[in-house]
Amino acid sequence: DKFRVTSKPTFSICNNVKYFSHSEKSTEDKGKTAVKKIFSFESMINERRKQAERSILVQVQSDHSYPELHSYCSQHGTVKEMHHYSLSNDLHFILVEFSNVEDVAQVMDVCGHINQSDVVPVKSPLLWFRVREVGSNINSKLKKSKSIPVVDHLPPIKRGNVVLPSSEITERLIQATTHSQQIEYMYTLSQLDEVGTRLRFFTAHQVECALRGLFPNMRALPFGSSVNGFGRKGSDLDLCLQFDEDFVKRKHREEGDDSKAAVRLVFQAKTTVASGRAQIQRQMETVGDILQLFLPGCTHVRRILQARVPIVKYHQDLTGLECDLSMTNLTAVYMSELLWIMGTLDSRVRPLVFFVRHWAKAAGLTYESPGPFITNFTLTLLVIHYLQCCKPNPVLPSLSTLISMASPADRRISDDGVNCTFLRDVSNFAPSKNKESLQSLLFGFYEFYSTFDFHGKGLSLAKGHGGKSGIGITKPDASPLYVENPLERMLNVSKNVNGEELERFKIQLRNAAWIMEELVEHSKEAVLQEGSIKHGVREKRKNSSPWGLMELLNPASKNHRDNTFSVGTMMRINARGRLVKVTDLFDDSDSLKTPVK
Ligand code: CTP
Ligand code: MG
Repeated sequence: DKFRVTSKPTFSICNNVKYFSHSEKSTEDKGKTAVKKIFSFESMINERRKQAERSILVQVQSDHSYPELHSYCSQHGTVKEMHHYSLSNDLHFILVEFSNVEDVAQVMDVCGHINQSDVVPVKSPLLWFRVREVGSNINSKLKKSKSIPVVDHLPPIKRGNVVLPSSEITERLIQATTHSQQIEYMYTLSQLDEVGTRLRFFTAHQVECALRGLFPNMRALPFGSSVNGFGRKGSDLDLCLQFDEDFVKRKHREEGDDSKAAVRLVFQAKTTVASGRAQIQRQMETVGDILQLFLPGCTHVRRILQARVPIVKYHQDLTGLECDLSMTNLTAVYMSELLWIMGTLDSRVRPLVFFVRHWAKAAGLTYESPGPFITNFTLTLLVIHYLQCCKPNPVLPSLSTLISMASPADRRISDDGVNCTFLRDVSNFAPSKNKESLQSLLFGFYEFYSTFDFHGKGLSLAKGHGGKSGIGITKPDASPLYVENPLERMLNVSKNVNGEELERFKIQLRNAAWIMEELVEHSKEAVLQEGSIKHGVREKRKNSSPWGLMELLNPASKNHRDNTFSVGTMMRINARGRLVKVTDLFDDSDSLKTPVK
């Protein structure tokens, strides 16, 4: 057999990422027709899930295996698209999408296992395309199959899932000509690409395939940054397992349809052995065992069952993804939908969120490991909240507005009873009257939170700018940072952040506001003396030295700048409406200076 079903323990994978230049990628993207805009999160998810079902993942010798694999696959079905990625110089994979799901079944029918006694003979759409041995016979099934079709114009292979090294990102940001363009570049260079998205849904599909025998309708739904529009290449995959029967039953009940209640033949089934949480912990433990023992590519399985939401963590070596699997966490899926909608409403939202996340990482505010640190999720909510509060025109509506515009079709109650109803089809939503540039909005973000009374107030996306009652809500508890969970309003998404981390956050916000003020002033002057700034920028580019907003992304700058702020620095708005240190205020006005004794 040419195809071998990938079985444990066949591969050892390292995490080095082969690098394809951005220009190579973009040339391939160029031929594309205009991307169809999908305005519903649910239709996007459904389409991606179907795509994963129509796909197989094949490990190949190199990307040169592409034409051979294409013609081999074309014997069994119609190949729609092929996407190549590599996880290191010698680990190459091609994700093959067929026109329909039956083609995948046909391909799997001609697959075999390697003759090795220690292999667990799992059958799944994760495969390996063996190099043809000289003089080997094709198996009898293949002999009977159609002759290999000749493809006149082999479509170019698509490449992706390449995490750009920071040096490449730096180089590109240097080439930008404005601050806003730097924010834009940061987003386009680091956002999750087509292959990355497909791989996430395919990784979810593998889990579904494994459990399908027992639970034909079970769904493994990606949520979090993999689907909410704020995902970057290399980010983790959050997965939620859903016993779909429960969901369907509840929906029927809600819609008053009890036709299912009248069925005569009922499945024999076990009653659950323990209640609620204990049952979920046991089930998760078993799922963890299945991943560990049977599923190709799944390694480093860790069961974290005592957490508020019990999860199983694992690494999928063949798709290169670190995964967090949980159960019955539909509210988090609806949260992803809400964030996706916010990102769809205005094209400036996602670039801003990406920049703020990068800045926070460079400033040492966010960490991979859990702790009292601010998270990317909280940062995303902070950016959205700021965009709801922009004056005189907000960029984004409050969640209450989206709730008030919801139709009966938008009604969603999550499995734990949380009401997640809000407007879902935003295709007719009026665009914002706010036309500020990305630079101006980013500066606004730093200024807004530099002066926000975190001590006295909490933030609410439901309330947004808050109308007459002003911005912010009364904090229900003494948490240093209080950001109301938009869907479960009694919860604080930043409960983990301690006082010290909040102080660090405030200091970095002030530093950033300070740096940006200088940059914005400088760029204004530059516009006045057009010739000189153009000259200045060009010269900097020639020297390849970082400029503009890159100053905010330099981890070193946070420690050694003289003009940055430390804990307790007093901030005021000066006569020109700018944020300044109190000492600078004094410098502005001689009369306020303390006489030297
Ligand atoms: N979530 C939530 N409440 C929290 C934390 C998380 O509802 N207190 C949900 C959100 O939908 C979030 C998802 O769980 O997007 C995944 O959380 P996490 O992985 O921490 O954040 P991501 O948005 O995925 O960002 P990252 O790229 O850092 O993984
Ligand atoms: Mg995540």
